[in-house]
Amino acid sequence: ELRQSFPKGFVFGTATSAYQVEGMANKDGRGPSIWDEFVKIPGIVANNATAEVAVDQYHRYKAGPVLPYLLFEDVDIMKMLNFDAYRFSISWSRIFPDGTGKVNWIGVAYYNRLINYMIEKGITPYANLYHYDLPLALEKKYKGLLSYQVVDCASEQSSLSRVKFDKCFKLCRKDFADYADFCFKTFGDRVKNWMTFNEPRVVAALGYDNGLFAPGRCSKAFGNCSAGNSATEPYIVAHHLILSHAAAVQRYREKYQEKQKGRIGILLDFVYYEPLTKSKADNLAAQRARDFHIGWFIHPIVYGEYPKTMQNIVGNRLPKFTKEEVKMVKGSMDFVGINQYTTFYMYDPHQPKPKYLGYQQDWNVGFAYKKNGVPIGPRENSNWLYNVPWGMYKAVMYIKERYGNPTIILSENGMDDPGNFTRSKALHDTTRIGYFKAYLTQLKKAADEGANLVGYFAWSLLDNFEWRSGYTSRFGIVYVDYTNLRRYPKMSAYWFKKLLERNKD
Ligand code: FCB
Repeated sequence: ELRQSFPKGFVFGTATSAYQVEGMANKDGRGPSIWDEFVKIPGIVANNATAEVAVDQYHRYKAGPVLPYLLFEDVDIMKMLNFDAYRFSISWSRIFPDGTGKVNWIGVAYYNRLINYMIEKGITPYANLYHYDLPLALEKKYKGLLSYQVVDCASEQSSLSRVKFDKCFKLCRKDFADYADFCFKTFGDRVKNWMTFNEPRVVAALGYDNGLFAPGRCSKAFGNCSAGNSATEPYIVAHHLILSHAAAVQRYREKYQEKQKGRIGILLDFVYYEPLTKSKADNLAAQRARDFHIGWFIHPIVYGEYPKTMQNIVGNRLPKFTKEEVKMVKGSMDFVGINQYTTFYMYDPHQPKPKYLGYQQDWNVGFAYKKNGVPIGPRENSNWLYNVPWGMYKAVMYIKERYGNPTIILSENGMDDPGNFTRSKALHDTTRIGYFKAYLTQLKKAADEGANLVGYFAWSLLDNFEWRSGYTSRFGIVYVDYTNLRRYPKMSAYWFKKLLERNKD
């Protein structure tokens, strides 16, 4: 009844990302990504785990010659569970091992097999081009997403001739667009739903402010490492991500969209921020937090500039878009993907601005998980994940109202259990069923109130490599036994099966 009550054509799927599930990290011609390098640092990942094998989706997307004894593998499981779609990501360095130039056709063949098998099974592919895994070669060549040269060019633009300017931009922004272009050309006859970047805020903040994600640049503000300068780097990286996104969208629109009849968007993470009290100061703090979190990206894409709060606070550390760039960035999405898991309270910390302005310090807000000693919701395994279904509704309505009711795909939602749960305990995941049920009810409420929602993707199909947490956090609706990589659908998977089958028309 829940499924039926969603708008007609509403798509249900599950999501994963290349690095977290594929495995074969150093095989079949794939070049290393910045994550392959990052996980080598002792202590970075729980139990020093790597994603060399991950859950081997590279071989186990379907039962095949490699595993003849298994009838069911990932795409078959999705089909069995009645899902309509699968959101996966393409590993840039599996296609271009050096980031640019030479193509690894073995990698291309893999994605062709995966996509073809999905289509054979009636699962619609949703392809994301970037999920944290920058080719290491580009990091080494020109500091990857930080690519100072691009910034130099941008600020000097007016004094450069057009030719020189174009040459300067032969950097990350161009390299990403070239890679995207190749994917559109190669897979776009079958892939009609494209996403440029997953969670650019996470890339900028965790990669360049607190150093928790690759490439691990962080600031004095966090006290534990010396590289980087979080007062500027996250903003520079975010700027490049937005420009790279827009450049890829431009290619798609100019060269492919009309013929291929697809759509393209970006994936943004949105922790909803609720004011701790009704005070004006707390309301403003919550608004600042929303602006710094999601406005950072969606504001330029919808309105062509960063949110005013950010412009005021960050001042000249915030890069500016040239007139030409505004034209390219503004309107550069057919839909927005929202990854929504949790909600925090925000309050005004009444602090003078700290001297050292890192990215997070700029927000000038306090985070709280409790109000009058009462938690905002039950905490799940991850320390950031509080189960707050109403935040889903508020997050979606916020996007609807502030950003002109764009087409929204709820592109990630889910919760994790600890890695050391026994299999039987993990399979009996009634808390997860409750989570999905409550969040989907709130999502439906937003759809009923006019939010332009067209799809929902559960994170994740499978237990997988959860970044810093390695294999100690299980987000799957399907349990993976890491000793033999066998898949076992959890109760929540069967809950989805029933939800999606009963009302199939
Ligand atoms: C999101 C990421 C995804 C996974 C989930 C739990 O932020 O996009 O890769 O880590 O959180």
